[in-house]
Amino acid sequence: MKLWSGRFSSPMAIDADSFNESLSFDKKLFRADITASLAHAAMLGECNIISAEDSARICEGLQGILNDIQSGALEIKDAEDIHSFVENELVARIGEAGKMLHTARSRNDQVATDLRLYTRDSIDSVMKLLVLLIETLMQIAHDNVKSLMPGFTHLRKAQPVNVAQYFNAYSEMFMRDLERFSFCREHVNVMPLGSAALAGTPFPIDREFTRKKLGFAAISENALDAVSDRDFVAEYIFCASLTMAHLSRLCEDTILYTSDEFGYWGLPDEYCTGSSIMPQKKNPDLPELVRGKSGRVYGHLMAILTVLKGIPMAYNKDLQEDKEGLFDTEATLTSCLSIYTELLQHLTIRSDVCFEAAGEGYSTATDIADYLVRKGMPFRDAHALTGKIVRHCIQEKKKLTDLSLQDFQAFDPIFDRSILGVVTTRVSAESRNSVGGSSQTAVRRGLVSLRHRIKRY
Ligand code: ARG
Repeated sequence: MKLWSGRFSSPMAIDADSFNESLSFDKKLFRADITASLAHAAMLGECNIISAEDSARICEGLQGILNDIQSGALEIKDAEDIHSFVENELVARIGEAGKMLHTARSRNDQVATDLRLYTRDSIDSVMKLLVLLIETLMQIAHDNVKSLMPGFTHLRKAQPVNVAQYFNAYSEMFMRDLERFSFCREHVNVMPLGSAALAGTPFPIDREFTRKKLGFAAISENALDAVSDRDFVAEYIFCASLTMAHLSRLCEDTILYTSDEFGYWGLPDEYCTGSSIMPQKKNPDLPELVRGKSGRVYGHLMAILTVLKGIPMAYNKDLQEDKEGLFDTEATLTSCLSIYTELLQHLTIRSDVCFEAAGEGYSTATDIADYLVRKGMPFRDAHALTGKIVRHCIQEKKKLTDLSLQDFQAFDPIFDRSILGVVTTRVSAESRNSVGGSSQTAVRRGLVSLRHRIKRY
């Protein structure tokens, strides 16, 4: 039975009905819908808009529906949307009193409230997963605080960095995601219920009562805006998109660093796949999939932004298009966060290979230039002279650490014995003690700061 059939002389055409329905996907909102209805019914009774007995009967009926859905005894089907389903079921169970539930309410403020309750819970789960991921990254950093690896720019070896500094970099990214989701939660946590269809309601409702019951931090200030506002959906998907961007970068590094060409990290067999034709292959499908799945989340962001851009004031059915993208974003993001955290817990860091690689590619050349600057040479001249030394090494097929003091002095007598230490990988990394730098002290400071910040969540 349609909630609105009174005005119509004939039922909907079958195709039109199935095109219009949202139950197939908004049934996910059943818990939120019943929770919001419980609060609304209690408020109606409290404000004497319906009798206390009817209010109690409705709440009991709703609770029964919730229990039966959760136990599997009641299947969600045969309705236009979840709101119609719950109301129809309520009337079927308790009769006349059930017909009073929708007093002073519209599906417009109802769906907006349901979706906010759902999104708030979803943010809480995502934030928990982000905390787990960051803790896993911090553990790897903690275990590798003495290890060095090449740092890259343009995917060419640049300067040695600390392995912990590398993992802390990802912790910083996910920490920002955590903060973003917590801001988003504040925007989500505003209650539209009580806005009714678009103009408010003539009934003496108590929005503060429902706000408290539903745990919202505030109530919406404008009914027209409240029923048509889905900014929070776009924000949620944007937060998810950036998290996926960060995960995707980590995936890219994982794929590169676990390749035979790099060999810095090892992935256990349990997290890899093989090839149906090439028996030797061990493929990083999981990181590839996570990297690939960022595409669908970005797609959902584009979709919701486009849905929102042209809707006239106030509620329009376009807004029904807010849900599938949100649900798929949630499912994609949470599965990617979980699997990647698990994969990272099984990652091995080959610190010997990393260390060896960190010393290659003249990665300490900047240290020679910095050394010359400390001896009084202007940086630009120091850069040019060091460039010549590197060119010489390339021609002679030598590493910077192969050069003797005499070799250095042949370029400029300014060099003394200490240059031989300056060009080593360890000294290079340890010398960068600036905040955020690669020295062990700086990296440990970074870890302490992360540990401090993550406590808030
Ligand atoms: N299924 C609808 C949605 O998701 C519920 C709201 C329907 N409201 C209406 N005025 N037709 O947006």
